[in-house]
Amino acid sequence: MFTMELPKDKKVIRTRNNKVVYDCGDTVAKVFNATKPAADIFNEALNLSRAAQAGIDVPEIVEVGKAAGSWVISTKKVEGKTMREIGDEDASKRPMLTEQFVELQLDIHKHRNPLLNRQKDKYTRMINAAGEVLDETTRYELLMRLDGMPNKHEICHGDFVPSNVIVREDGSHCVCDWAHATQGDGAADCAASYLHFKMRGADEFAENYINAYCEKSGVTKEHVQNWLPIIAASELSRGRVVEQDFLLSWVNVADYQ
Ligand SMILES: Nc1ncnc2c1ncn2[C@@H]1O[C@H](COP(=O)(O)OP(=O)(O)OP(=O)(O)O)[C@@H](O)[C@H]1O
Ligand SMILES: [Mg+2]
Repeated sequence: MFTMELPKDKKVIRTRNNKVVYDCGDTVAKVFNATKPAADIFNEALNLSRAAQAGIDVPEIVEVGKAAGSWVISTKKVEGKTMREIGDEDASKRPMLTEQFVELQLDIHKHRNPLLNRQKDKYTRMINAAGEVLDETTRYELLMRLDGMPNKHEICHGDFVPSNVIVREDGSHCVCDWAHATQGDGAADCAASYLHFKMRGADEFAENYINAYCEKSGVTKEHVQNWLPIIAASELSRGRVVEQDFLLSWVNVADYQ
């Protein structure tokens, strides 16, 4: 195997607890820390390739390899700004960005790739893995609810947020960060985005977003809301300590429905 070498003058785009994303000039390198299983890196790279295969505008993969002992996914740099940066810089653009954001998500849902992981399999696995936080009865009820949700094959990004959409100079959109992608019900993807915004306290944006999604897609808000306890329970399997109470409150919404 070739060992990758990252340029000395690379610039940090973002640091997370388990990875650093670098601007390397012509490419962007996502460098994972040593605890990240190799299978996760290959799954993310495979999802990215499958989204590309389905015809979605995504960054082109350059290579997957190791640099100084860490797994790296390297993609061709897309010139532009993320929707998040544009919205942070100019609040007056936010209503227009929300519309475009929802339209882009609905366009992704129109794409198909039968090889992508199945949404129900993924959420089943995650709910089962949340055993430390959720008792057996709750997990069983959530799995029954999941079983009753529609079997669809829409491509779902899984972490569709404005920082994962790069807007080019010509106005076209390129979507990055496919680690959580599946095929399934687009409404679940909407529920995941909604919960993400609520979790970060962006309540106003969350409500504008879900309303725009339901209006443009014709999906009822009730149907999106039916996914929320499932998504919240799945997120609990990631061992999120800070967000645990928030997520549990959304799991328990199921009791009142
Ligand atoms: N190919 C690319 N071209 C240009 N910018 C990119 C590219 N890939 C990633 N980025 C930028 O790097 C940021 C982080 O990358 P990415 O979303 O893949 O990682 P992340 O750590 O999962 O981020 P987060 O968890 O915040 O969504 C993106 O928000 C985007 O601004
Ligand atoms: Mg991201």
